[in-house]
Amino acid sequence: MVIVKAKNYEDMSVKAANIMAAQITLKPDSVLGLATGSTPEGLYSNLIKKYEAGELDFSKIKTVNLDEYKGLTRDHDQSYYYFMNDKLFNHVNIDKANTNVPDGTKEDGEAECARYEALIDSLGGTDIQLLGIGGNGHIGFNEPDESFIRDTHCVKLTDSTIEANSRFFASKDDVPKYAYTMGIGSIMKSKKILLVASGKGKAKAIYDTVCGPITPSVPASILQLHPDVVIVADEEALSLIK
Ligand code: GLP
Repeated sequence: MVIVKAKNYEDMSVKAANIMAAQITLKPDSVLGLATGSTPEGLYSNLIKKYEAGELDFSKIKTVNLDEYKGLTRDHDQSYYYFMNDKLFNHVNIDKANTNVPDGTKEDGEAECARYEALIDSLGGTDIQLLGIGGNGHIGFNEPDESFIRDTHCVKLTDSTIEANSRFFASKDDVPKYAYTMGIGSIMKSKKILLVASGKGKAKAIYDTVCGPITPSVPASILQLHPDVVIVADEEALSLIK
């Protein structure tokens, strides 16, 4: 594991964007595993800046997103499909046909998750997987559990995640209770992992991820077993690591 220490959120966003930009430059037809949440927003705006400056070309890039809320339509402003278009895809020269997010409107979760897992495999897996982290150590929507779940699956969100994500919705009751998420195996298949974290609220999760035992009660702790992980985190998020 390589840990890159950033001063603050802005610095974290620049440093993480540089790593993603290097991937796109070195392999212009990369398959990028992408993430949502407020943490990667700054990374995405830095990628847009680099594209506008003529430094990056997304024309051959393919993307697969980690997760999606079950039940939200693609035009819902809190769906992850909407987020990705709004924060990145609408602003760069990516072919939208090459972008993929699980379809939250599909009622048959098993079929949709199987389709998504097969899609990831048909692309040859991801070259780099971007991850945020939940305060409880979740990655994608892999919540703390008694075992690691390998493939893309439907998950019941924990109350702490619903509470944390309610800030984006009119009320807590409006937050979907279920989501489709890549599994731990789908994430671990990526050739490289880039995890971003910012703020005191992530300090315990980052400490447990890096220094704690590998346990499904802290899903991100499995990353200790991946051969190529970079964590870009700011001073607050790294404050418990001596
Ligand atoms: C959501 C997403 C995760 C994300 C997490 C943290 O639950 N499914 O992929 O990492 O929130 O979000 P934030 O970066 O807003 O703290």
